[in-house]
Amino acid sequence: MTKYVINGGRPLHGEVTISGAKNAAVAIIPAALLVNGVCRIENIPNISDVSLLLNILDRMGVKIRTVNSHTVDIDSSNIHSVTAPAELMRKIRASYYLIGALLGRFGRACVGMPGGCDLGVRPIDQHIKGFVAMGADVDIRNGVIDAEARGGRLQGANVYLDVVSVGATINIMIAASMAEGLTVIDNAAKEPHVVDLANFLNSMGADIKGAGTDIIKIRGVSEMKGGFYSIIPDQIEAGTYIAAVAAAGGDVTIKNVIPKHLDPITSKFREMGVDIQEGDDYIRVRCDGRLNSVKVKTMPYPGFPTDMQPQIATALCTASGTSLITESVWDDRFRYVNELKRMGASIQVDGKVAVIETVDYLTGAQVRACDLRAGAALVIAGVAAHGRTEVENIYHIERGYEHLVEKFQAIGADIRRVYTPDGNMTSQAI
Ligand code: EPZ
Repeated sequence: MTKYVINGGRPLHGEVTISGAKNAAVAIIPAALLVNGVCRIENIPNISDVSLLLNILDRMGVKIRTVNSHTVDIDSSNIHSVTAPAELMRKIRASYYLIGALLGRFGRACVGMPGGCDLGVRPIDQHIKGFVAMGADVDIRNGVIDAEARGGRLQGANVYLDVVSVGATINIMIAASMAEGLTVIDNAAKEPHVVDLANFLNSMGADIKGAGTDIIKIRGVSEMKGGFYSIIPDQIEAGTYIAAVAAAGGDVTIKNVIPKHLDPITSKFREMGVDIQEGDDYIRVRCDGRLNSVKVKTMPYPGFPTDMQPQIATALCTASGTSLITESVWDDRFRYVNELKRMGASIQVDGKVAVIETVDYLTGAQVRACDLRAGAALVIAGVAAHGRTEVENIYHIERGYEHLVEKFQAIGADIRRVYTPDGNMTSQAI
């Protein structure tokens, strides 16, 4: 078993550099299947979700060449399969973007149902609604999605999303890039990674306008050629370090960010009393440990991101007064609360609302990550808490955070990744 062992309670100081955005990378890598040529993708985060996707592409006959630790060449010229390995598909949510990519380029996709974090029900009806509107027949049975474009090529269509869905917006945008004619996505998601994907596709020859607004227009092209692209910085990773400084106190400069993308996050932490100064591509975050309580409601961008909900909740555990968090995106994203309670937090959850009463400090405990952001929240709690915390099930965290241990160490946290063959904490650190 591999765990993080944290001796908490000291403020954070120094600099941390943010990696490429996970949720942009996991869309751009499958989208490279559309391209008849080599895509050089830079600023790719070193995380297990990315390795898994590259592995899936490799198994499908795509040539992957690692140029350096954050750059890969993806060459889909000689792809030989419209079928993705089902056992790998199940391990990651973003594998469903292979449906859009394969349908768009070859008019056929046969892939396993996606996996990913367990946040409650995660339907894909809006993705399918888009593919069907574009003339695909979609059949789901025995855990496999089989989609085929009637006439061999998707046709442009108008798609009104019933819910604002990042995944459906991205998947339909990918599929429509090589459809015949114009596709219009109405009520589209506006997240920075939606815009990043559109910029990537356009740089490879697609014709997409309006990404970042709620109407995206995609005029299909018959071929896409290779090129270079650099992924945007991860705004949720940056937000996670802001939350850590808020919880533990300190003075940390967070480098390689697009401050505008952080507005929904920084504005809430400022309301809590955290001092945040912006530069062109960095922010400086200072906190003396005193925080105000706030109300938070998660919403699609530019609202407060659900992917920051567990981290801000952790910082709010020691804020003066009572805070209220409403989770309006996912049905079941408070499962980490029981772990925080083991560390002394006072939180009551009723459906989609969590009420957080202040406590003087959190105390170290043995806790277990139940998903990616929940895991990040427990690391923040451990860094801020008095005493020793052990975080288990860290594979969830390593799906989406590059070099988390090294980055926290660089800002003064006492955190180690410890491997224990028998679950006993005396073995070597790695
Ligand atoms: C993406 O998930 C992210 N994952 C999630 O990040 C993030 O929490 C979520 O967007 C919201 O921002 C990736 O990008 C890989 P949605 P996605 O489709 O696309 C409902 C993280 O921690 N819905 O925007 O799956 C759905 O139930 C992860 O990095 C439908 O009803 O989310 C939810 O209530 C976890 N039908 C809402 O829409 C559909 O067909 C938003 O989901 C699709 C979604």
